[in-house]
Amino acid sequence: MNVVTTISELRALLSAARAEGKTVGLVPTMGALHEGHASLVRRSVDECDVTVVSIFLNPTQFNDKQDLARYPRTLEADCELLRSCGADIAFAPSVEEVYTEPDHRVFSYPPTDSVMEGAMRPGHFNGVCQIVSKLFAYAEPTRAYFGEKDYQQIAVIRRMVADLGLSLEIVACPVVREASGLAMSSRNTLLTQQERAMAAHIYAALVASRAFAHAHSVAQTIQYTVARINAVAGLRVEYYSIVDGLTLADVQAWTDVPTVVGCITVYCGSKPIRLIDHISYRKEGEWL
Ligand code: PAF
Repeated sequence: MNVVTTISELRALLSAARAEGKTVGLVPTMGALHEGHASLVRRSVDECDVTVVSIFLNPTQFNDKQDLARYPRTLEADCELLRSCGADIAFAPSVEEVYTEPDHRVFSYPPTDSVMEGAMRPGHFNGVCQIVSKLFAYAEPTRAYFGEKDYQQIAVIRRMVADLGLSLEIVACPVVREASGLAMSSRNTLLTQQERAMAAHIYAALVASRAFAHAHSVAQTIQYTVARINAVAGLRVEYYSIVDGLTLADVQAWTDVPTVVGCITVYCGSKPIRLIDHISYRKEGEWL
């Protein structure tokens, strides 16, 4: 695996591959890689001739500088994992390499980027679009792989790709969960063993809410899910929204739109660590 830190090295490697007619898969990451990332990399390796994984802790998407400061940084272990998954190139640029000057571009895709995480973390999705659009320009991938754990992020990126008229394919990969049901996340390493056990209640409550939903309204299902999670000492729901799976606008009734998803953010423990997850209730007009 080639580990490169400059855009020109990356371009040189990829233009040689493209000249041979090879397809390029891009897996954008912020490092602190885990089995969830590994599943994206393996899928890209299966589906593309060349797989590039970017490792870049993007400062413009952190509205909370403390969150950025404590984000885990594990470059050596990340490269080990990528080698074992068969990645061809790890691209790990510095902040100065990527932001040679401040990025003043504004991306705005309401309601998709203005609700939920967009409302709680102002500027977050603008920063995500800034970096992802740059990575797409550097790598010109055939396909880009993102984890469905960040459900809203994929919806925003799809809108950006349509808006910019890019021809790449966005591949959404299923959430990878720990045995307890907790969605894998780089932030999980910041949890103690006890907090991990508490955090498992989040997905358990989401799964229980799916059975509850069949005989109850959207509002009742929100109330039920929030109460169930808040009843666990050490967990506090920031928001639970049941939304149109495509636009992410709130829904009032289950049959308002064909695809309905519940998206949640929960604070866990005393630091506290912010965890996100989601569950699908209906797909193309059918209960799941
Ligand atoms: O999901 C992430 O890790 C980041 O938001 C991404 C897509 C790599 C952009 O920095």
